[in-house]
Amino acid sequence: MRLLEVNDLTVTLNVGERSATIVDKLSLTLDRGRCLGLVGESGSGKSTAAMAVIGLLGHGNLSARGSVRFQGAELIDAPARTQRGLQGRDIAMIFQDPMSALNPVQRIGDQIVECVRAHETLSKKEAQALALEALKRVGMPDPPAMMRRYPHQLSGGQRQRVMIAMAIVFKPKLLIADEPTTALDLTIQAQILALLKQLSRELDMAVLLITHDLGVISDMADDIVVLYAGRSVESGRTADVLDHPGHPYTRGLLAAHPSIDQATERLNPIAGMPPPLWDRPQGCAFAPRCDHVQPTCTQRVPDPVALGTPGHLAACILAGNTETVAATR
Ligand SMILES: Nc1ncnc2c1ncn2[C@@H]1O[C@H](COP(=O)(O)OP(=O)(O)O)[C@@H](O)[C@H]1O
Ligand SMILES: [Mg+2]
Repeated sequence: MRLLEVNDLTVTLNVGERSATIVDKLSLTLDRGRCLGLVGESGSGKSTAAMAVIGLLGHGNLSARGSVRFQGAELIDAPARTQRGLQGRDIAMIFQDPMSALNPVQRIGDQIVECVRAHETLSKKEAQALALEALKRVGMPDPPAMMRRYPHQLSGGQRQRVMIAMAIVFKPKLLIADEPTTALDLTIQAQILALLKQLSRELDMAVLLITHDLGVISDMADDIVVLYAGRSVESGRTADVLDHPGHPYTRGLLAAHPSIDQATERLNPIAGMPPPLWDRPQGCAFAPRCDHVQPTCTQRVPDPVALGTPGHLAACILAGNTETVAATR
């Protein structure tokens, strides 16, 4: 059985009579202990998809359809208590900005203990023991002293370690990490990513890693889903996708990241902007920015095409046409 299986997940934003599709028929799978990278520019719907998976879309103007199965059990439209039972226990999440998630006037130890006791009836002592264990696991120096500190007395990297400690107290089977290192400088970023890798191995924990940074993906992810304007445009094993990208958007992302695409010396950002949420084009959403656009591209959304290696899909009418691919590299 798959740990996580998402099929045709669609999230719509409803404002009065109008609705916009933020996530459009997203499908992905994730097995125990593996890391799946969800990559795309800002606004592509990554965080919204993650919130739908963990069941935190809230009751506002967002609604989710499709299927999110965790260990075989359907979570979309599941009773709130089923979702709450998983949140923070079997499925945990960390975010970009640990400072805004921490209470500035409460000691670190008390915050972790409170969070632990919100999920399980434990004595303060038992919860403290779990907190210390988690802080040790995430490589915090002198955990007892850390427990007594306030968030502002910690560095950015240490604060993110605290957030990770809170997330892994109950040894979740799935950790959703939403841009976990975007706010950190490069050295600290590398340390946090190494920590996530180590925890994934030690706890046999799957990681859904959300980022706009292909460099992070190529270091971390076994598999990758490339999101553009709410749709998966390419997916597969990370090495297959990065070495043989089938979608012009993926190639554009690679060209904008010279350390991965060694052939490119210069940074070549993709010209233009992603379409605004309320004004998505008909057909392929990338067509207005695509150098290879064909008349049919603007008429209907291209189906995913299977490429050379198993599981590698690209939603482009030119995918698999090796001459075109070669010409654009
Ligand atoms: N609650 C909301 N109300 C209005 N718009 C939203 C809401 N949540 C997300 N959006 C919009 O949906 C799009 C995708 O957002 P998001 O999932 O945060 O993208 P990403 O994480 O890839 O940057 C953006 O245009 C964003 O403004
Ligand atoms: Mg986001």
